Amino acid sequence: MIPRNPDTEKLALVMVGLPARGKTFISRKIARYLSWLGYRARVFNVGDYRRALAGPKQRAQFFDPHQAQHYETRLGIAFGALSDMIAWFRAGGEVGIYDATNTERNRRERVYETLRAEGIQVVFVESICEDESVVEANVRDNKLRSPDYADVEPEEAVRDFRERIAYYESTYEPLDDPEKSYVKLIDVGRQFVVNRLEGYLSARLIFFLMNIHPARRPIWLTRHGECRFNVDERIGGDTELSARGSEYAKSLAKLVNEQGQSKDMVVWTSTLKRTLQTAESLHKTPVAWRALDEIDAGVCDSLTYAEIKAQLPDEYAARAQDKFRYRYPRGGSYADVIQRLEPVIVELERQRSPVLMIAHQAVIRALYGYLMGRPQDECPYLPVPLHTVIALTPTAYGYEERRYQLEPHI
Ligand code: F6P
Repeated sequence: MIPRNPDTEKLALVMVGLPARGKTFISRKIARYLSWLGYRARVFNVGDYRRALAGPKQRAQFFDPHQAQHYETRLGIAFGALSDMIAWFRAGGEVGIYDATNTERNRRERVYETLRAEGIQVVFVESICEDESVVEANVRDNKLRSPDYADVEPEEAVRDFRERIAYYESTYEPLDDPEKSYVKLIDVGRQFVVNRLEGYLSARLIFFLMNIHPARRPIWLTRHGECRFNVDERIGGDTELSARGSEYAKSLAKLVNEQGQSKDMVVWTSTLKRTLQTAESLHKTPVAWRALDEIDAGVCDSLTYAEIKAQLPDEYAARAQDKFRYRYPRGGSYADVIQRLEPVIVELERQRSPVLMIAHQAVIRALYGYLMGRPQDECPYLPVPLHTVIALTPTAYGYEERRYQLEPHI
């Protein structure tokens, strides 16, 4: 886990921005990243509250700031969500992300005061798009699929959504209070304005925010082909691929070509022979990351699980007790793997090309856990068999998964 912010235990990120500016995309990415690192982080999306409380199919007029009744209803919903977030903080939440438009100064002030009264540090995160094409793409790619517009003709939905944006624009007051902590993200990464940011975690989040982007590209994960130690059921080591493992390497290259990924795909491996050999048939120069090396089994390296149980029964039992935190003597734990993968994740977010990562069981579990937003304690048990490609295709806020089983026929 990355060190706690020394200034505060509780941090609220309050999103600000017109509709279709990527606030939900940013909120979910941050929550997934922090949860993966071990923080209790959660998004409170006011749109979801609105759909649940006021019905899913509100048209643009509902957002007209001059219609007092609707305005009050929306305000009530927004502060209801904030109360839930505060209750969650009281119950041990650490980083709450308040995902709403918060485009009016008055409302932001009230949100700020409410959170500060609870001793919660507040950072505003405003997303601004000056590039109309980004807004247009966001409306078409994400908003038309929203439950708000189920059963509405696309052109009508776009027209209505634009009207909704115009209502928000009519009362929009961008962040400008020099006393508050805030970040402005302008045109997804083109420009950043950072004001009065304090603390380790906030700085860490800015670094993350500077690397994420909404460009969609597939991410493929696979373990190396079967190696000699897999055949002998030994863990760790640095052995060569078996004949079956080499067969898998060829099938993998064929799949990459067939799926039309070969041209731009970037290949990342660990520094161990079995991943480098698996990459060979792809005829690309892989980037070999030490951070992608398998979990370090320390004194248990090269043993079978049966040998560990017989020779080091206490270690075996301790691992069974808490597989996520258990650290092999002179080796590592799953928690250590996540910590060392953090720069890989930031680089992965930054990349705009498709990426194929060839690594190892524990490492693929940790990467998959991040990408699919799985809780830490599930991570050591996620099924990641040999000779299987996990192809992840981005969707609006996550990934769609397809698995290709390429079991060698020898
Ligand atoms: O058995 C293959 C392997 O990659 C080992 O090198 C590694 O120790 C193990 O899998 C990780 O899986 P688990 O955490 O389930 O022991």
